[in-house]
Amino acid sequence: MARIIAVCNQKGGVGKTTTVVNLGAALAESDERVLTVDLDPRADLSAHLGVETMDEGVTIYEGVFDDGVGVEEVILRVEEVGLDVAPANTNLAGADLLLSEMAPGERRAVLRTALAGVEKRYDFILIDTAPGLHLLTVCGLGAAEEVLIPQQCSFLALHGLRQITENIQQMREMKPDLRICGVLLTMQDRRTIHHREVIRMVREGFGDIVFETVIPSTIRFQEAPASGEPITKYAAKSEAAEAYRAVAREVIERG
Ligand SMILES: Nc1ncnc2c1ncn2[C@@H]1O[C@H](COP(=O)(O)OP(=O)(O)OP(=O)(O)O)[C@@H](O)[C@H]1O
Ligand SMILES: [Mg+2]
Repeated sequence: MARIIAVCNQKGGVGKTTTVVNLGAALAESDERVLTVDLDPRADLSAHLGVETMDEGVTIYEGVFDDGVGVEEVILRVEEVGLDVAPANTNLAGADLLLSEMAPGERRAVLRTALAGVEKRYDFILIDTAPGLHLLTVCGLGAAEEVLIPQQCSFLALHGLRQITENIQQMREMKPDLRICGVLLTMQDRRTIHHREVIRMVREGFGDIVFETVIPSTIRFQEAPASGEPITKYAAKSEAAEAYRAVAREVIERG
């Protein structure tokens, strides 16, 4: 059975999509069978993996909400990265309306039910979610057993630990039995003492929930999407690529 992990943080721009792509790629390098699911109508994950669905083509929207289409029909193989993606496009913006008409239980179950047919083919299913508290995120958390929370070091510097606590509380309200896979600190500027201080503080506050590995800040992460590659290909030997490989090992160990 696949471990289904939603990558969530209601705050935007913290590294959710970057983590789905690069953790997925690193897991695939370790011969894990990986499906990534794009649950953001802006389709950043699909674009990063070089899968442009534009307005045609079946996407996760049809796979979940169209009775005639199964998720297996929308999954695409990204051969160069060695993983699969259930892509999205802007059609997915219509999902919030459909979800609003569902009962809460149905809302939480709909993606999980849709994934049931393909779950056995994978070791990991990583779900990328949009920022904010959309019903689509409820749907993503509902399908997952675990949540991975990327958190930007500099943002924490401003808002302290409260941000993480609130995030976890809100997710637990949406899904009471949710397991925390881990909090992943991202975009660390190693030159600043301040970031090191923030990391120490977060570890003190949250202990083992926080991954050992911290993702460094580097422009490489912004360059890689343009080439449709994960960091593990774009800068295969970089410290940044090694960091996501280390996170992959931690995620496997936590299983
Ligand atoms: N470790 C990093 N160092 C430098 N830049 C990074 C790093 N991780 C991500 N970025 C860049 O920061 C921006 C936001 O990252 P990303 O899109 O992964 O965040 P997100 O949480 O998915 O955002 P959104 O909430 O908008 O979906 C992107 O331009 C990305 O390339
Ligand atoms: Mg994103």
